[in-house]
Amino acid sequence: MTAQNLLTVRDLQTAFHTEEGAWLAVDGVNLHVKRGEILGLVGESGSGKSVTGFSLLGLIDPPGEVMGGQVLFKDQDLRQCTEEQLRQLRGDRIAMIFQDPLMTLNPVLKVGEQMMEAILTHYPKTPKAEARQRCCNALTQVGIPSAESRLNNYPHEFSGGMRQRVAIAIALLNQPDLIIADEPTTALDVTIQAQILYEVQKLCKEQNTALIWITHDLGVVAELADNVAVMYAGRIVEYGSVTEVLSHPLHPYTQGLLNSMPSFTQPGSRLQQIEGMAPTLTSREQGCTFRPRCAYAHPACAEAPPPETAIANRQYRCYYPLLQEATA
Ligand SMILES: Nc1ncnc2c1ncn2[C@@H]1O[C@H](COP(=O)(O)OP(=O)(O)OP(=O)(O)O)[C@@H](O)[C@H]1O
Ligand SMILES: [Mg+2]
Repeated sequence: MTAQNLLTVRDLQTAFHTEEGAWLAVDGVNLHVKRGEILGLVGESGSGKSVTGFSLLGLIDPPGEVMGGQVLFKDQDLRQCTEEQLRQLRGDRIAMIFQDPLMTLNPVLKVGEQMMEAILTHYPKTPKAEARQRCCNALTQVGIPSAESRLNNYPHEFSGGMRQRVAIAIALLNQPDLIIADEPTTALDVTIQAQILYEVQKLCKEQNTALIWITHDLGVVAELADNVAVMYAGRIVEYGSVTEVLSHPLHPYTQGLLNSMPSFTQPGSRLQQIEGMAPTLTSREQGCTFRPRCAYAHPACAEAPPPETAIANRQYRCYYPLLQEATA
């Protein structure tokens, strides 16, 4: 199983240290991604999606700390890598796309200069003309017209949607094996978002690039991903193929997310919200953290966090999964 996986994450734990102690924002996360696979990592605000993404790449700064677990990328444990080894991997074999493209783009450098740098840092012997041609091709691939002349523009000369396309082009430049994208289209309007999703999906499939797409939007997951991991309060509470999870959720939280989505509800019917609030780091329950909001909660749910249970290719953390509905 591991041999086929490009990335295998085991029991990842990331804490934030405060005066009251260390709080686990990521609490025993297991994930795996194959080459060319698109995994949607979905959950409400504060569930630990970004902290997971940053932890994988060794980008957690104090007061945060990765406390445990393995991050196997092609059988190399990234947690054992030096900062220099991680720098070599980032932007080459593994790329990250952030919500704000200005986290990738330097406002005072022309886009072409930044793209050239992204290639030459990792492959310094590339002839300049060849590198420039690759930059041009990458901009064209993500749907930026007049790529040759756009290389001479500064980031502020692009619209928000175009700027995000440039950041995506940079991520794709060195044909990485894995891209981690943290809500890169959330700030864009829906038509631009749909175009970008379609293009990224096409490029990843063409280049056999694996993609972890972090989002709070199950609609985006439905459009884009092969598999989905649903995160709640630092844990993956449900995992499986998008088709299976969205048609037969096993975890009450996933069901709640689906019921609160317009596109999964009959036209004209009222949307349902998940009652209550997602817990903050310091207010998390002892047992199942979803228990206070769960319509199926039972006293046993307060005792210990539900273990990860697997059925076929599905995984879930719940003592009372929606099995009858799933198999009905
Ligand atoms: N630098 C930090 N210091 C303290 N706590 C932090 C820090 N960064 C994140 N956290 C906490 O870790 C938890 C997970 O945060 P994270 O940013 O991963 O959530 P998220 O799922 O990405 O949410 P969103 O959808 O809002 O981006 C939250 O409770 C957050 O408050
Ligand atoms: Mg986030």
